[in-house]
Amino acid sequence: MTDKRISVDLEHLNNRIGELSEIVDDSQDGWTRQVFSDPYMRSREVVANWMREAGLEVRIDYVGNIIGRLAGRRGSLKPLVTGSHTDTVRQGGRFDGIVGVLGAIEVVRAFSRAGIALERDLYVVDFLGEEPNQFGVSCVGSRSISGVLTAEHLEHTGVDGAKMGDVIERVGLDAAGALVNAWEPGSIHAYVELHIEQGPLLERSGDEIGVVTAIAGIDRLMARFVGRPDHAGATPMDDRQDALNAAASAVLTIEREGCGAPVHGVATTGGIEAYPGSFNVVPSEARLWAEIRSTDAEWLSGVKGRLAQDIGIDAEKRGVESMIEWLTDQAPVPTTPAMRDYIAEAADELGYSWKPVPSGAGHDAAHMARLGPMGMIFVPSEAGRSHCPEEFTPSADIGRGVEVLAATLCKLDTVDRVLG
Ligand code: GLV
Ligand code: MN
Ligand code: MN
Repeated sequence: MTDKRISVDLEHLNNRIGELSEIVDDSQDGWTRQVFSDPYMRSREVVANWMREAGLEVRIDYVGNIIGRLAGRRGSLKPLVTGSHTDTVRQGGRFDGIVGVLGAIEVVRAFSRAGIALERDLYVVDFLGEEPNQFGVSCVGSRSISGVLTAEHLEHTGVDGAKMGDVIERVGLDAAGALVNAWEPGSIHAYVELHIEQGPLLERSGDEIGVVTAIAGIDRLMARFVGRPDHAGATPMDDRQDALNAAASAVLTIEREGCGAPVHGVATTGGIEAYPGSFNVVPSEARLWAEIRSTDAEWLSGVKGRLAQDIGIDAEKRGVESMIEWLTDQAPVPTTPAMRDYIAEAADELGYSWKPVPSGAGHDAAHMARLGPMGMIFVPSEAGRSHCPEEFTPSADIGRGVEVLAATLCKLDTVDRVLG
C-alpha cells in the first residue's frame, strides 16, 4: 500500500452519531445511555450490526464487549486493536467514546472502499460500560479484557441494593465469565484509541490533533458520616452531631486538595446524600462520592492519606463518626512513547497540526495498556465542554481524527514490534 490517506465518509459518520444519539433515556435531559440500562442494551445490537455491515466478524464476550474482527492477510501476527465506548454519563453528550467506536468502524469502511488490506487482524472493540456506574466501577469491559475486573467488583452494591454481578446476569451477560475473560498480556501488537479531548487545550492552542502523553490516575471514594438525629428546632447548635455538616466540610477539604495540586490534579465531589432528609431533623447520616485525579502518582497517594486524616479529624470534632471506602483506584498510565511518535508522524504526513496533551479523563486505553503498547489520539472539544449536553466536536475535526487513526494503524501494521 502506498497512499495511506483514506477518504472519510463524514456524512455517513455524522448520521451514525445522530442515530445512536436517538437511543437514549428520554426521561432525562441531554443524552443518557448508561451501562445496563434498556437504551444501552438496545444500542448494543445496533452497534454490532453496524460492525457487521462494515465487514467485521462480530462476537460478544462474557461481559458484553462487542468485538469486531477484520481479518488480516497474516492472521498469525499479533492483532491491532482500537475502540472506545458508547455508554454515556447521565445527561451527557453525543461524542464521548462514541467517536472512537464509530470512527473506528468508519476506518474499516474506508479501508474497504480504498481496497486497503492489513497484514494483521484488526479488532474494533466497543467496551462495555466505560463510565463510572452506580456501583462505583468504571471501564467494566476493558477491566475484564485486561484481567483486573475482580470478584470484589461484582459484589459492589448499587442504590437499590443489587450487586453489580447480579445486574450483569440480569441483562443476559455472564458475571462469572467476566472474571475469566482476559486476553494474555503481550498478546496484542498495539492498542490505539481515538477520543474527544473533553478539555480546552487543543482549542486554545488551535491544534487539530492531540497526541496523548498520559492518562490521569483516578481514585474514587465513598465517605459515610454517622451522627445523631435530633429536633432541628429544639437542639442547640453546640449540642448536635450533624452528619451533613461533617460531609459539607469534607466537600471543601476535597476541593482544597484539588486547588493545591502542583501539576494537573483535580478533586471533585460528584454527589452527596443526607438522611433522613427532612427540614426539621438534624441529619443523622450523610454519604458523599468523590474522586481525585492526576497524572502524578505521588500526589495522588499523598492526597489519599491526607483526606483520610483531615476528614476523620474534622468529623470527630463534630461528634460524627466517619468512614471512607476507596471504591476504585487506577494509577496514572503513560502512553507508550513509540506510539506517540507513530501518531505524530501520521498527523505530520496528513498535514495536521498536533500537540502533546495529557488526558484528565479516564479511558479504556488505560486498561488496555496492560496488554501491549498503547496510544491515544484526541480531537478538539468545543469550548472544552464534555459530560454535558453541550459537548460538541465539529465533524471536520472528527474526520481528521479518523484519518490519523487509519494512518497510525497502517503504520503499526507494517512494524515488526512496537518498541517502548
Ligand atoms: C470518563 O469519562 C471519566 O473520565 O470519568
Ligand atoms: Mn466520559
Ligand atoms: Mn470517554
